[in-house]
Amino acid sequence: MGDYRIPFNRPCLTGKELEYISQAVRLGHISGDGTFTKRCHALLADELGVAKVLLTTSGTHALDIAALALDVRPGEEVIVPSFTFVSTINAFVLRGAKPVFADIRPDTLNLDESQLESLLSPRTRVIVPVHYAGVGCEMDTICALAESRGILVVEDNAHGLFGRYRGRYLGTFGCLAAQSFHETKNFQCGEGGAILINNPALAERIEIIREKGTNRSRFFRGEVDKYGWMDVGSSFLPSDILAAFLYAQLESRSDIQARRRHLWERYFRLLEDWAGRHEVRLPVVPAHCEQPHHIFYLLLPTGEQRQAVISHLKARGILSVFHYLPLHTSEMGRRLGGDEYACPVTDWVAERLLRLPFYNDMTDEEQDEVVTAITEVGALRPGRNSLLGAR
Ligand SMILES: Cc1ncc(COP(=O)(O)O)c(C=O)c1O
Repeated sequence: MGDYRIPFNRPCLTGKELEYISQAVRLGHISGDGTFTKRCHALLADELGVAKVLLTTSGTHALDIAALALDVRPGEEVIVPSFTFVSTINAFVLRGAKPVFADIRPDTLNLDESQLESLLSPRTRVIVPVHYAGVGCEMDTICALAESRGILVVEDNAHGLFGRYRGRYLGTFGCLAAQSFHETKNFQCGEGGAILINNPALAERIEIIREKGTNRSRFFRGEVDKYGWMDVGSSFLPSDILAAFLYAQLESRSDIQARRRHLWERYFRLLEDWAGRHEVRLPVVPAHCEQPHHIFYLLLPTGEQRQAVISHLKARGILSVFHYLPLHTSEMGRRLGGDEYACPVTDWVAERLLRLPFYNDMTDEEQDEVVTAITEVGALRPGRNSLLGAR
């Protein structure tokens, strides 16, 4: 990935990361739950209005904790979109659950809520909406259905910190939500994550699971005079060095978000006419969703045309990437019965979606180069993009 003049992603400093790391070292506590971890917890809980937030070693681990805390059992079913990262479902498969793969909406590329009813069974335990690119899933419908059937909602909000659905922060709808602070995210510390706990009844158990199954956190708060093994668990808490890095990023959230918004809107403006002429679809963000501007993607008319754009950008020293390979037809997905599910929109999108370079300190000049290179690609044959008229 290193040889590109314009990379797909570049981890950016906001200014205070290294100062805070050295402060953490001077404070003499660089294992988990030190000063900066507590600052991150407070900042996120206050800003989002969540009962409790705990940093984790990754978004993947936040999902693992959720599946453990909810006692997901073998044979129970968990509904996920097929168009997502493997961690969304691995957490539940690790507990023996069966994945049930939903297709996505052609507009937002989020879980298609209109399919949920037909995917429910008496064994359905959890629905995991993934807010793709930080654009909210249709949470009104999803939460109403889940509540009426006694099904739990765990939000995979890896992309969506500070995004909103009908004015309410993403990550505050399900009983639990997972955040990611991986290097590619708007706010990052290399590898990291957080679990948002909206149901306070789960807080004590999650604290224990995150601390190797012990009540060590209560011991440190002086609530018990020794700590011991209380439950299953693992080591899910990040070093305070990572939290110090992350805290600097979170403190700069308005600058980071303003820059990303500028870049996202600029991509849209500069590519709109070209996209219209070549039947290329740009992202759709419904009026009731406020996005955190995490991803800028194109939907090319065909897979070959996507490859042509990738190759042309590569020749200009620009890295563009695609994701996700559909889970229902992956090797593991098939082994778990994924073939039972038809997800035509997922298949269509997975073949055509292209993510453009997008990072916090991208310059307008770098962005101009990407746009020029894209619009240079000739011979995009119109007439085959059946998602253009998508709702
Ligand atoms: C939708 C989604 N869920 C979960 C994750 C896992 O997050 P992490 O890389 O922090 O483990 C990712 C990672 O990019 C993701 O895109």
